[in-house]
Amino acid sequence: MRIAINTGGGDAPGLNAVVRAAVLAAERRGWEVVGIRRGYDGLFHPGGVVPLDGAAVRGVTHLGGTMLGTTNRGSPFSFAVTDPDGTVRVVDRSDEVLERMRSLRVDCLVAVGGDGTLRIASELAAKGLRVIGVPKTIDNDLEATSVTFGFHTAVQTATDAIDKLHSTAAAHQRIMVVELMGRHAGWIALFAGFASTAEAILIPEIPFDIEKVARHIRRRYDEGPEFAIVVVAEGAIPAKGRKPSYLDDPRPGGSKRLGGVAKRVARHLEELTGRESRSLVLGHLQRGGRPIAFDRLLSLRFGSAAVDLAAEGRFGCMVALDPPVVKAVPLSEAVARIKMVPPDHEVLVAARRLGIAFGD
Ligand code: F6P
Repeated sequence: MRIAINTGGGDAPGLNAVVRAAVLAAERRGWEVVGIRRGYDGLFHPGGVVPLDGAAVRGVTHLGGTMLGTTNRGSPFSFAVTDPDGTVRVVDRSDEVLERMRSLRVDCLVAVGGDGTLRIASELAAKGLRVIGVPKTIDNDLEATSVTFGFHTAVQTATDAIDKLHSTAAAHQRIMVVELMGRHAGWIALFAGFASTAEAILIPEIPFDIEKVARHIRRRYDEGPEFAIVVVAEGAIPAKGRKPSYLDDPRPGGSKRLGGVAKRVARHLEELTGRESRSLVLGHLQRGGRPIAFDRLLSLRFGSAAVDLAAEGRFGCMVALDPPVVKAVPLSEAVARIKMVPPDHEVLVAARRLGIAFGD
């Protein structure tokens, strides 16, 4: 048996631990493993496919990023090709992926990624490739698994950062508005905002009325400490307008980037409360650094379980956490829809009970 492994989409702490676990588990079965660099890109470039063995994955469990590299613009179904005259064309190279896999004598691909990468994997599986998916994203927005690795590390990073904002906010009696990642789901903002005791948390699942947020903050200034922390998810939507903030148009083969909502919220809150406000975007810091122990364990379990599925011939599946066990779910089911924060989520309900405003 010869398996290939790749990592696609935005990186998340824990990717290296998955690669290590899959390589070691495969090696112990007497299998060979190759790594494909930068998602599927490596298949189309010399040196883009590398042999992996125990020595190659030594000492990587605790490292952030991914030793294989990644890209969130590399779908083989809509691959951006630049012509000699500079024209960019989007072409379908999925048949070449299957051919390359055959010529590399790869029996099964372990694809580690978020919804984009897993959707590609699912489409390749439909074309006949034997694929096993491993869910990854700091956004935690994959429906079929109770949690993705990388999420809790991102929450920890964001919580640590917001903790540091309290003193400067208090010193200047300011409103500090922090923008966190998460795309169209509010998991990181909800968890980090609650853990760091924000006054208001704005998430895409609950369109916010800025007047209500301002009223809540004015009351806090009147009654208690004269500063406020507002956590806003990058995909948060104002009730008036109902559109998220985007940064720019997508590059060929890529998706639109969210961003800018914190700046708007801070400006409106300053106008409505008369209190000085500042905004900051935590950005890619949330994806960086060492995975916390929870994420390392989940990654190691996922990598090992992916090899078990390959051994059982259960292709077209993804490993998923269904506490307390890691199980297999069909890839097509895993990418059917994104997982949003439900209105009755226990963390959301608890935050409301403690007086945190959601702008509704
Ligand atoms: O999906 C992970 C994520 O970090 C999102 O939270 C964020 O919107 C996006 O990736 C940022 O992507 P990029 O790395 O292209 O800026």
